[in-house]
Amino acid sequence: MNHHVMAKRAGTEPAASESGFAEAVIEGLSADTKTLPCRFFYDAIGSELFEQITQVPEYYPTRTEAALLERSATGISARTRAGTVLIEFGSGSSRKTEILLAQMPQLAAYVPIDVSGDALREAQARLAQRFPALDVLPVVGDFGADLHLPRHLAHAPRLGFFPGSTIGNLVPAHAQELLAQMGRQLDGGRLIVGVDLRKDLAVLVPAYNDAAGVTAAFNLNLLTRINRELGGDFDLRAFRHDAVWNGDEGRIEMHLVSRKRQDVHLLGHVFAFTEGERIHTENSYKYSLEGFRRVAEGAGWRVTSVWTDERQWFSLQELSRG
Ligand code: SAH
Ligand code: AVI
Repeated sequence: MNHHVMAKRAGTEPAASESGFAEAVIEGLSADTKTLPCRFFYDAIGSELFEQITQVPEYYPTRTEAALLERSATGISARTRAGTVLIEFGSGSSRKTEILLAQMPQLAAYVPIDVSGDALREAQARLAQRFPALDVLPVVGDFGADLHLPRHLAHAPRLGFFPGSTIGNLVPAHAQELLAQMGRQLDGGRLIVGVDLRKDLAVLVPAYNDAAGVTAAFNLNLLTRINRELGGDFDLRAFRHDAVWNGDEGRIEMHLVSRKRQDVHLLGHVFAFTEGERIHTENSYKYSLEGFRRVAEGAGWRVTSVWTDERQWFSLQELSRG
């Protein structure tokens, strides 16, 4: 899918057929070990539920990263030339980005990229209030696709921003490919990336099993989306959320577990579930600083700055080319 820059106003959503949702769901549910890709969590309701996750007491990443941005924004700004375009990958609500934007009056434009047009539209409206002079050019699409900026910005210096540890939602080999692709998109510019770190499981596991059940609702919303957009008949009460630490892989995994033997129908297919059968919906890798350095270097980056909190729960890292 090509990026479509929605200059100044909300454009059209990519058609459902273009996003590959139906194909991905059929392929994922047809496999021996059933899976669904996590990028489809983020319809309007999913994006809103993710925002609620960032507020639950157990989900430490957002507030820890925001504190790191408060500490680092002035230095990042000092190393950023006038006329730079800030390009954000998976921008969601752009709330944390405001911390950077407040310190960066020298930007020529801010380009948030996200698959969620709803999240982009809300963010654009809010940013217009707080930063009326800032040129905001949202792009609805995959952050791994080629990026075409409007002609007047094509040769401007670029700074990348990839917060939230969204990089952790990819297996390391794909994370490395994506970081290499971002290197090409940024055309010599630096990349500021948020990377969640290994930690005590007593902190980690509850972050994906919050007591209020918001993460469970986020996970189950994928089935609601399939029912609505693909005419599926998933019974939401017949599946439950589960999140577990996979120590061999170094990742949290989210699953939806069938509470009983059942058949699910969609788009002319029948998917049979045994009691206890799982749909693997998300990986969230937790890196050591050394482990992430290897991935970044494998993608042609050098780690030139690292900011971490005193408990070393989360890191913000500045990557430079070569
Ligand atoms: N950056 C925000 C949001 C993180 S949630 C934060 O740190 O809080 C992950 C975001 O990435 C969601 O908004 C989701 O819609 C977006 N996303 C996930 N996969 C994507 C992809 N392949 N291309 C573009 N956006 C993607
Ligand atoms: C966006 N991403 C980094 C989040 C994470 O922590 O893996 C998504 C999420 N899944 C469950 N809670 C939050």
